[in-house]
Amino acid sequence: MRASTAMVVLLLSACPDVPADACPSDLPPSCLMPAPSWSADVSPVISRTCSGCHGPNGLEAARPYGTWSEVEARKTDVLFQVYGCLMPLPDAGVALSAGERAVLLHWLVCGAPNN
Ligand code: HEC
Repeated sequence: MRASTAMVVLLLSACPDVPADACPSDLPPSCLMPAPSWSADVSPVISRTCSGCHGPNGLEAARPYGTWSEVEARKTDVLFQVYGCLMPLPDAGVALSAGERAVLLHWLVCGAPNN
């Protein structure tokens, strides 16, 4: 087990196309009040960067992310995907800006309030 984990780490760090720091380790350690607002801050980011695929007629229309309840119901998955830089899909042309990423992660760490 240990040997294969070391091998994966070795392979990842040896790959020049995927620098180890490509995805920032920037998860806020705790929720600093006030939490970002769903309606003013987060919803526009989700609409711009997620809903094109996770919405009507999108690639992932079967898993919609548009309304607060749709996002809140799967907030752990959303956090995992966004924090891991897996979503939005890197080639989708709708990358999160650093500010958008920070707002989204902060809101998720605050428990995804409907505020
Ligand atoms: C270019 C289209 C596209 C965009 C933009 C996109 N996604 Fe996805 N998303 C997908 C596809 C396709 C899958 C399924 C991938 C798979 O299963 O490997 C997926 C899967 C997911 C999943 C895992 C499945 C689930 O519903 O639990 C989550 C969570 C997710 N996306 C969240 C997001 C969020 C949040 C955003 C915006 C920040 C986003 N996605 C933007 C296409 C997209």
